Amino acid sequence: MKRLAVLTSGGDCSGMNATIRAVVRAGLANNIEVVGIQKGYQGVLDRNYQLLTTKSVSGKLQLGGTFLQSARCREMLTEPGQRLAAENLQGLGIEGLVVIGGDGSHRGAQTLRQRGIPVIAIPASIDNDIPFTDMSLGVDTALNNIIHAVDCLKDTASSHDRTFVVETMGRNCGYLALAAAVASGAEYALVPELPFDIDQICTALRRRYQEGRDNSILMVAEGAGKAVEIADQIKDRIGFETRIMVLGHYQRGGSPSTFDRLLAARFGVAAVEALLAGESGKMLGLRCGSLVLTDLEETIAAGRKPLDPGLLKLSQTLGI
Ligand code: F6P
Repeated sequence: MKRLAVLTSGGDCSGMNATIRAVVRAGLANNIEVVGIQKGYQGVLDRNYQLLTTKSVSGKLQLGGTFLQSARCREMLTEPGQRLAAENLQGLGIEGLVVIGGDGSHRGAQTLRQRGIPVIAIPASIDNDIPFTDMSLGVDTALNNIIHAVDCLKDTASSHDRTFVVETMGRNCGYLALAAAVASGAEYALVPELPFDIDQICTALRRRYQEGRDNSILMVAEGAGKAVEIADQIKDRIGFETRIMVLGHYQRGGSPSTFDRLLAARFGVAAVEALLAGESGKMLGLRCGSLVLTDLEETIAAGRKPLDPGLLKLSQTLGI
């Protein structure tokens, strides 16, 4: 193999830069040229790329975001877009492609594979909704961001006997809200996968304050409801002073955690090794501490990872 390409696609996350760096350094160590494609699949269509050297990736490891930039590319959903993408990569002499992104990006990777481009996908999405991997890249950093914010909120909430409703990302997946609730000691996690009863929550909150507790935190995934609406419902029902915090894109940025840096190093190097070993159409995953390859066909067919029942039980046992 003489030349491979790497791109980041879909919503960005911390650890993408560290992964690009690992792909570049592993490629160069094997005498392979590495092409960095700008703005995900859009850059493939626009032939927007640069040759990456070891120097191009120096000083990038600790930076959030992605210096190659990312995009959600609608044209890659169409047959002509997919055909053009494959032709452009072949025209550039790309013999292997590493796609760093979420489920939509992996679907794009699979279409390229079907058109003869060898691809390895790396799961990267703060939602942690990609199946066949315990953790996706960026999840740990996002959780650390949330925990830091909630710890700060708890201080001020306690000073005023307040309830805070904290909205995390997760349109269809409650992992972030649930894991953050367990890790921050929040009373409740409201997730899109499960219905909730606001009256029951209010009764529990009132009891909690009657017991002399001085704060309550409700984590709500964006797909389960709007923090502002839930806060209003609590105010209307039990008259508590309630405040909100919508964490939004803050969760996606920042310097990657040590966990994400190590994961990035392992994923990046393993992706190059897999391509060198002739693998294609596979997604790397972390399962029980080991890296495994799963057919993209299988990961795509499986859809979204279901809510972790163990985590749910922890949150229910340890919350209110
Ligand atoms: O998929 C990752 C994610 O961060 C979701 O949690 C969130 O709903 C979405 O991306 C936000 O997308 P955008 O950056 O396009 O607003």
